Amino acid sequence: TEKKFILAGNWKMNKNNSEAAAFVNKLIGKIGNEEKIDVILGVPFTSLEKIADITSGTNIKVSSQNMYFEESGAYTGEISPDMLKDINVTHVILGHSERRDIFGETNEIINKKIKKSLEKELTPIFCVGEHLEEREKGLIFNTIEKQIKEGLNEIEKDEINKIIIAYEPVWAIGTGKVATPAQAQEVHKYIRDLLSEMYGEEVAQKVTLLYGGSVKPSNYFGLFIQKDIDGGLVGGASLKEDFIDLANIMN
Ligand code: G3H
Repeated sequence: TEKKFILAGNWKMNKNNSEAAAFVNKLIGKIGNEEKIDVILGVPFTSLEKIADITSGTNIKVSSQNMYFEESGAYTGEISPDMLKDINVTHVILGHSERRDIFGETNEIINKKIKKSLEKELTPIFCVGEHLEEREKGLIFNTIEKQIKEGLNEIEKDEINKIIIAYEPVWAIGTGKVATPAQAQEVHKYIRDLLSEMYGEEVAQKVTLLYGGSVKPSNYFGLFIQKDIDGGLVGGASLKEDFIDLANIMN
């Protein structure tokens, strides 16, 4: 397929404004205007505008790590899609396991956010993934099926190629325990087959599926040569030189 490989970083709750700017200036200096892959940075709300300004005119895209599904109003502490669009944010990470587990986001809430992001032309990076107990009980596919079907509820065939899906097994996030290439490919293939059942083969093949969970320069290669893995969503390593190395190796 003509899909572009994606390297996405998720900084989570890290970096103040000056640290963010220093890191991104360094990244731009090292990768220049290479276009072979798309680089997306998941930045905290407080640095989005600054990083969008610094990266404007480069091939680096800027993502928030969350947003609310309403447009404006009495929702103390929330950020709307229009606010993100206004400062040139193009992507939004939705349904990350930390949002689900720490902040109680359900598949239904995540679905509302995905629908709103599409309506506002922000590209959602929709995260799914099983917990260790679910894996151990043989419930990987049941969990993923429910997350995908409920998360994509009422999303039509003509919209599915506007969504990036990230598979992040929860037991691999921030633990240093990366999924083996075979474990990751198995679930990616399951997701692609499920999308094919829901939307047809042609559309399913075009969906970008990212793997996330302890990706770093020493383990990316085996993962990213898998047939159904189209890139990575990198947490811890995206805060450091490692991310610049990954961007360079892939470009
Ligand atoms: O969104 C990114 C993931 O949660 C992966 O985090 O690379 O620190 O394991 P990690």
